[in-house]
Amino acid sequence: MADGVFKDGLLAGKVAFISGGSSGINLGIAEGFVKAGAKVAINGRNVEKLEAAVKGLQAHGTAMGVAADVRDYASVEAAMKTVHDAYGDIDVLVCGAAGNFPAPALGMSSNGFKAVMDIDVLGTFNVSRASFEHLRKPGAAVINISAPQAYLPMAMQAHVCAAKAGVDMLTRVLAIEWGGAGVRVNAITPGPIDDTEGMRRLAPSADSRERIIQTLPLQRFGTTQDIARLALFLASDAASFITGSIMVCDGGQSLLGGGALMKAMGM
Ligand code: COA
Repeated sequence: MADGVFKDGLLAGKVAFISGGSSGINLGIAEGFVKAGAKVAINGRNVEKLEAAVKGLQAHGTAMGVAADVRDYASVEAAMKTVHDAYGDIDVLVCGAAGNFPAPALGMSSNGFKAVMDIDVLGTFNVSRASFEHLRKPGAAVINISAPQAYLPMAMQAHVCAAKAGVDMLTRVLAIEWGGAGVRVNAITPGPIDDTEGMRRLAPSADSRERIIQTLPLQRFGTTQDIARLALFLASDAASFITGSIMVCDGGQSLLGGGALMKAMGM
């Protein structure tokens, strides 16, 4: 599909806040949103990475960066306020900050497990919770970035499986609690997306990449633009009656179960 889908002003006049927006899937969403006419604030921990990403986004439209660690509620609160002061009410919130490393349960410390739980689950809670007073009500859309690990058990991914299952459930609960305020809450489950930190960690070699492609029904890695298109749909009025949905965008990967992917990755 042509890039034009992002250029038709679908999000003109809207404001988006994207956590973990300096790279990968979240940066792809940020780029899609900027091209669709939104004012976009991205958040990340690493200031240098954040600034470089913002510069790239500004080539296409309006963007700013706010540094904060999603694990630290006070810093997330301050970031939200900064964005609200600059851009006004937030129409679209993307909770995308996540952590991952492949390791068996016995190969990770309690702190390693906690690091991922804190970034994914607590981070999604913190960003959602701190955003609420700044969201446009009614009308705002929250989009959480999940993963197939939420429902497919995979070895070497105990932390991520537990964390993303938590993210999915948070999505459903907040959809119920915030529906009355006119806020929709949905999640996207991306499959293997090329050129992301997650894929570099899970499939570091040319061999493992090739094996993954061969197991996928659509026979290719996804792109960050594939995910951005779904995010654009969920953010737009085209999805006005959709809330509490966990939408899979994975080239058919999850049809085969977690075992196929683990095998392809040599796990
Ligand atoms: N295997 C086992 N344990 C690991 C590990 C690995 N490959 N990588 C990190 N850990 C452990 C560390 O040893 C540490 O535990 P310890 O204190 O008991 O030694 C714990 O995880 C926290 O590591 P630290 O580097 O201090 O945390 P951090 O907050 O800086 O990083 C991570 C968080 C670990 C999730 C890191 O991988 C990260 O920053 N990821 C972000 C990028 C990313 O993963 N993107 C992909 C998303 S799909």
